[in-house]
Formats: sequence, structure tokens, C-alpha cells
Amino acid sequence: MRNTSKRCLGVIFFSVAVLLVLFHDWCPGSSSGVDIRSRQESTIKQLLDGKIHEITSAYNNITYHIKEEVACRLAQNVCVCLADEDTIKLPFSDLLNPRVWAHNLDTAFLESHPDPEGVKRHRAQEYSSFQRKSFIPADVLIVAEANSPLQYPTQGVEVRPLKTIIIPGLGLKEETKSNHMVSLTAKLGTFDVAATVDNVSVKGHGEQHMILSSPLLFALNRQLQFVTYRNTVFHPKTADTVKFETKGHQSYFTIKVGHGTIPKLYNSGYQREYNISALVTIATKTFLRYDKLKDLIDSIRQYYPTVTIVIADDNEHPQPVTGPHIEHYIMPFGKGWFAGRNLAVSQVTTKYVLWADDDFIFTANTKLEKMVDILEKTTLDLVGGAVREVTGYTATYRHKISVEEGGEEGDCLHIRKGYHHVIEGFPNCVVADAVINFFMGQTDKVQQVGFNPRLARSAHLEFFIDALGSLHIGSCSDVIVSHASKIKLPWGQTDDQKAYKKFRYSSSTADNNLHNEVFYFKNRFKCMTSN
Ligand SMILES: *[C@@H]1O[C@H](CO)[C@@H](O)[C@H](O)[C@H]1NC(C)=O
Ligand SMILES: *[C@@H]1O[C@H](CO)[C@@H](O)[C@H](O)[C@H]1NC(C)=O
Ligand SMILES: *[C@@H]1O[C@H](CO)[C@@H](O)[C@H](O)[C@H]1NC(C)=O
Repeated sequence: MRNTSKRCLGVIFFSVAVLLVLFHDWCPGSSSGVDIRSRQESTIKQLLDGKIHEITSAYNNITYHIKEEVACRLAQNVCVCLADEDTIKLPFSDLLNPRVWAHNLDTAFLESHPDPEGVKRHRAQEYSSFQRKSFIPADVLIVAEANSPLQYPTQGVEVRPLKTIIIPGLGLKEETKSNHMVSLTAKLGTFDVAATVDNVSVKGHGEQHMILSSPLLFALNRQLQFVTYRNTVFHPKTADTVKFETKGHQSYFTIKVGHGTIPKLYNSGYQREYNISALVTIATKTFLRYDKLKDLIDSIRQYYPTVTIVIADDNEHPQPVTGPHIEHYIMPFGKGWFAGRNLAVSQVTTKYVLWADDDFIFTANTKLEKMVDILEKTTLDLVGGAVREVTGYTATYRHKISVEEGGEEGDCLHIRKGYHHVIEGFPNCVVADAVINFFMGQTDKVQQVGFNPRLARSAHLEFFIDALGSLHIGSCSDVIVSHASKIKLPWGQTDDQKAYKKFRYSSSTADNNLHNEVFYFKNRFKCMTSN
């Protein structure tokens, strides 16, 4: 029995080996593989790092005096999260001047974890692989040294993957001598000349290193106008750092390698004035509140009878929601808040998507045209409105978000109420980093950021933290939706309302821990402050 199985194993190993050899030989073009592993530790980077060190460490023997008020503003990579000191509590003081609280994610998340050191290590590994993957040589610091006789492009040279370009602007300006010589070195491509000039010698056609020399400086400069670069290592978006040198002088510049950005345009038809039905889809998510949802739909229909409404529904016992221009998507029971947002937004085919909660009510003040107008006329990708509570209080929920570098332990997340500045031409609108859960965004931009489907219950700011650096966000106080009553006396509640509250507002430990994990691991923060 044992012998047979051994023999079987042997046969299997042998056939796999044969197959591998055959496959290897048969694969077209696989004979010389291309190394596409991390490109961060390239020799050119080490060389550049050395150069920068040389340049920045010059004049070390000259004394200096630190200007504290400016120096303290520089990022130090040692951020901490500090809460405001406890002060004497006056009535309304929190409203006027909200206190900053701080939350240490590392202690909160790691404390309850069975293997905190393992998690830390895993996060560090994931982070360094993320850094390697997102590294582009065009981000490396390059300094043009003083009095270089070399002339070259500092930026704006771009080549499509595996294509050829002429490198513009190369030249040598120096005193006449018996022989003039320059050389070019690249890593992801090769050089050649598109034309030859008399009296110039070119060595290294079609290679990563090319030397050009001539006894006549003008001939060499003429020849340099025909130097081409051909990208030979495929990558959809990266850069090559080129070394350009002559005797005693070196310079570096980058050539961006990559495809152009493919536009995503929406054919909304010709319009003299904004046609909301052609431009906007309203997305919402419902759970246990069909009565509220019906009120929302009825109120929308009063003002926008033909706008498409997409509903994501994760009820245990879904009820039909029908009508013209309604798309009702039924999800597995209790999939949750962000999963629902993701599903609803993924089905939108118009240029813009408006997010509304299922307990909102449209009124005459809910002018979607105003939101479309500011998105069309400015660089904003997303704009929030205002929500009016039953009490008459109107909220815009504007926040500023910033991230401070904090070294190996992770970064610090800071969230503050407020906005950056008012938008010219739109006096009711400001620029911020996070807005209320009534917002209109450019569909493809919102889809790119996405909603983390693991966040099932309460989540809102998480989307805006993911959007930091990729969405330009505004908030307008004059586009107002009404909120169906939120504060209800307990004895006036239906069973559905009670069940909803239990689901939505139960802040279980598991839920808190998930938030800590998302911030600690996914976004690599060590702590946060907010007010
Ligand atoms: C600093 O060092 C450089 C050379 O290393 C020298 O030329 C210069 O005179 C020194 N300056 C002072 C102020 O000591
Ligand atoms: C340049 O090239 C021309 C023709 O090839 C030749 O007659 C001339 O002597 C060369 N000049 C020098 C300086 O080499
Ligand atoms: C607005 O767009 C909708 C949907 O594309 C279309 O059916 C309707 O005819 C348009 N209305 C006008 C006035 O163009």
C-alpha cells in the first residue's frame, strides 16, 4: 500500500516537472522574464539619496539659530493625540467651543487582541508592501546642481508604455575644447537617435547607456535634438530616472511612463437647463422603515417625478417597493449600512448620484439643481447639503480632516468641526473634508472611493477619510432636506421602530472594536482626536 502510494507520488511529481518544463518552453516570450518586483530599492535611488545627502550636508560647520514659531510647524513624524485640558464647565460652553477628545487606537484595539505583537508586525508588512507598490520614481527628490553645463528637461516628459519619444531640451553649454562628450543612462528603457549628424560619434544605439561625442560642440548639440527614449519594461504607471552626464557633471531627470487617463464621460443628452432626471440618480438604503421610505419617495415625486431612485434593502422580510423609475435591490438580511451604500451607488448610470437616508423628506428647499450647478461649474467632486430636524435646527456637519505623520507606530488622525474657505460665486457654500449624509457626488469618483462593506452599523466619516486626497468636497447650506422625526417618545414607537433602534444604535463592543481595527490596521493610524 505504502509502496504504491510512493510510486504514485513519484509519477505525479515527474509529470508536473515535465509539464512545467514544457510550459516554460512553450510560453511565448517567457524566456527572458521581466522583473516587476518592488522597484523602490533601485540603484538609481541609492545614488540619488547619496547625492541629496552630499548636497544637504554641505556647510555643516556654519552655526544657525532655530526660529521656533516656524520650525514647530514642520512635520516631525512624531505626532501625538492630545485632548483639551479639562476646564470649568459653563452652560453651552461645549456648543460654543467644542472640547477636543483623543482616542488611542493602538491601546484600544491591541489591548483586546490575543496577539498584539503579531498584529503590529502584520500591519508593518502590509504597509511596506503598500509603499513599494505605490512608489513611483517621479516622486523622488532630484536637485539640479549649480553651474551644470548640462541642459535638460526638469519635468513634463512622458512616454506611453513601450513607446518611443524624442527627449526635448537636451544640450551642452561649455567652452570649446578638442572633444565634447555626454552620456545618458536609463533603467526602464533604451536610447537611440532619430537622425544622425556629421562629425558626431554615437555609441550604444538601442541600449540603456548611450555616449555621444564630437569635436564640434554645435554638431553635438544638433545631435542631442534627435535623441530618442524607448520604454522597454511595461508598467501602466511609473517613471524612469535618467542620468545625463558630462565630464565632472551629472544631472538627473524623470520620464513618466504610463497610459493616459481614460475619460469617463456620461452622455446626458443636450440640455438648455439642468435636466435632473437625466443627470442625477437618488440612492438610498432601507432597513425596517418602509413607512419612512414611502414618505421619502412620495416627497421626491412631488418635485422630481421622473428621477431614478435606487433602493438597497437588507430587510429580513422584504416588502415590494414598486413604481416608475424605481430600482429595488434586495440584499441578504442585515448586510448593513456601507454594503447597502456600495450596492446602491454601483447601480447608478447617471453622471451624479445623490445620497439620501430613507427617513429624509424632500421639500421646496431641496433644490438639486443648485448641487448640480456647483458640481458643473467648480472643481468639486462632491457637495453636501443641509438637513433640517423637526425642531427646526439645520445641520451641515462640516468637518476638516488632517493626518499627521507618526513614524512606526502609525499616523495621527485629527478631525475638527469647521471648513476651509467659502467658495467664490457661491456664498452659501464652503470647502470641507467631510459633510452630512445628504450629498451629491460625481458617480465615478464616489464609486472609486467606495464604502467599506465591513462597516455595518454606524459609519459615515470613514468614507470621507478614505476620500481624503482624492475627492474635492464642498458643502452648501441652502440645499435643505427635512429629517422625519428622529426623537420619538418610547411609548409612541411601533415595533419596527423599536427593532430599528436596537439594530442601528446598539454600540456593541464588537462594533467598537471593528472601528478601532479599521482605523488602526486598514488606515494605519495610532490615535485620533476630534471635537
Ligand atoms: C567650513 O568648512 C569649509 C570647508 O569644509 C571651509 O572652506 C569654510 O571656511 C568653513 N567655514 C567656517 C565658517 O568655518
Ligand atoms: C566633419 O565631417 C566632414 C564630412 O564628414 C569632414 O569633411 C570634416 O573634416 C569633419 N570635420 C571635423 C572637424 O572632423
Ligand atoms: C430629461 O431627461 C429624461 C431622462 O433622460 C428624458 O426622458 C426627458 O425627456 C428629459 N427632459 C427634457 C425636458 O429634456
